[in-house]
Amino acid sequence: MSEADPSLPLQGQAAIITGGARGQGRSHALELARLGADVALCDLCEDVATVGYPLATRDDLAETAELVEATGRRCVSEVVDVRDLGSVIAFVDEVKASLGSVDIMVANAGVTAIGSICDMDAAQWGNVIDINLTGVFNAIRAAAPHMRSQRSGRIIGISSMMGRTSQPGIPAYTASKWGVIGLCKSAAYELAGFGVTVNAIAPGNVSTPMIHNEELYRLMRPDLEHATKDDVAPVMAGLHVQPVPWLEPEEVTAAVVYLVSAGARHITGSVIDVDAGASARFTA
Ligand SMILES: NC(=O)c1ccc[n+]([C@@H]2O[C@H](COP(=O)([O-])OP(=O)(O)OC[C@H]3O[C@@H](n4cnc5c(N)ncnc54)[C@H](O)[C@@H]3O)[C@@H](O)[C@H]2O)c1
Repeated sequence: MSEADPSLPLQGQAAIITGGARGQGRSHALELARLGADVALCDLCEDVATVGYPLATRDDLAETAELVEATGRRCVSEVVDVRDLGSVIAFVDEVKASLGSVDIMVANAGVTAIGSICDMDAAQWGNVIDINLTGVFNAIRAAAPHMRSQRSGRIIGISSMMGRTSQPGIPAYTASKWGVIGLCKSAAYELAGFGVTVNAIAPGNVSTPMIHNEELYRLMRPDLEHATKDDVAPVMAGLHVQPVPWLEPEEVTAAVVYLVSAGARHITGSVIDVDAGASARFTA
């Protein structure tokens, strides 16, 4: 029998990342691959009418897949809308057939929609809840049966610091991210006897297209017609406790890597706050 390579602790495992075309999802994909996992990526790869910034493209998804393959691992990538349970189940079943197992699920796809609670319409509300909360349910629903029968698996739901507190102007986002934490805890409880852990990560501001766009800059600096990165940085830093406006995606990836490591096998139903100290204000 060949010795396991300690530099590849995830060798032989298959990791699925929703919303994996760019941003944090891409960072998770590359690091899990570097640690030895084969990777399956899905993304919507088109814009959503009620979301005020562009989402990832097919080129982004192809580029992430190429970067994963450049590490020497296998990569499956597909356009899948996490709002559609049937498509998510079909994708995960296909991953099981082609990569051999379903070991890690990072339910990462998400969007934000900005608007007052007094005039947000049903489509704005519905799309955020469907992608951010139902999408995480769909990912868990698709992966959990495979993990339960394998009697092993790691599921991570990406929540947000807004899943621990709130801000005006993002009611659907905040509700969806609080929901992700409750969903992960319930799934953790149910799957605890089957060797499957389920945890959430609650990032602060992370430097991706979700925050670096005109719409969010306007929410942060309503006093300016064309706010720049420098204009919004102090406001963004004010959401944290450490004096930094945003984190890099790799800092969230470090928490993903910990939660899928052998050392985290008895951590389930938990939330890791990766938020430059924002949680010092609001969590026990
Ligand atoms: N950027 C932040 O400040 C921040 C903070 C806390 C939490 N988050 C969360 O982190 C996760 C990743 O976001 P990000 O910062 O990398 O932003 P991002 O916009 O770069 O990435 C989100 C990805 O999800 C994809 N996506 C959107 N709708 C989808 C759907 N219906 N089906 C499949 N894929 C879909 C997008 O195309 C995109 O590739 C999200 O859940 C987000 O809510 C982000």
